[in-house]
Amino acid sequence: MIMLKTKDQIKYIHDSCRLLAQLHDTLETFVEPGMTTKEIDGFAYDYIVRHKGKPAFLNYMGFPASCCISVNEEVIHGIPSDRVVKDGDIVSLDIGINLNGYISDAARTLLVGSKVPSKVQKLVKVTKECLNAGIEGAGKKGARIHDIGSPISKHAERNGFSVVRDYCGHGVGLEVHEDPQIPNYVSTFSPNPRLREGMVLAIEPMINIGTKRVEVLENGWTVVTADGEPSAHWEHTIAITDEGIQILTLAE
Ligand code: CO
Repeated sequence: MIMLKTKDQIKYIHDSCRLLAQLHDTLETFVEPGMTTKEIDGFAYDYIVRHKGKPAFLNYMGFPASCCISVNEEVIHGIPSDRVVKDGDIVSLDIGINLNGYISDAARTLLVGSKVPSKVQKLVKVTKECLNAGIEGAGKKGARIHDIGSPISKHAERNGFSVVRDYCGHGVGLEVHEDPQIPNYVSTFSPNPRLREGMVLAIEPMINIGTKRVEVLENGWTVVTADGEPSAHWEHTIAITDEGIQILTLAE
């Protein structure tokens, strides 16, 4: 069941989202070659708690950290560890904040240092463009859920990349994962409800350089590409309002 939010609820969710965007902005300058993913996670935890929030992913379904930190071939759900990020890596930071009971969700893929190969830089750029294309699709008059995934997959494939099928976007705001599911491609098996005022959605394309196939590591969490090639991930929380689409996870 899709939980529609009132204007007041969207205002509170927006507060949570704004804090998350500020954290992401801060992390963009914080992350440097030589850091462990655990250090990055610790910084994010301190930031969230200092601003009176709670890390929404910590202990969610048993996840052991505040951020999902996925490096290179890791697609999503990377567990912060002693892995050191190196010049030339890409690192995807997927974070959720619970601020006074209202949940935000956003991800960015950062370039570490100056040696990221140009094809991988293109992957990161195109994935961000895919997110924007999906948001634009949601803003079309009479749009349905499939109007989000369709432009995402078109833009990725036009650039020679592939779209992860096994994971998708979702409703958000009062819970970490709510209905509806939002595939990043047109899945004829997936429900296709019309978008309505009061929906709050996390749109999150996961785009691979090589095969779209993925595997889950033995830790039960970390999703990696089946061919070991890099993957990128961008995500915003948006709201459907009477004035159109509002991207909530921007720092402004
Ligand atoms: Co999400």
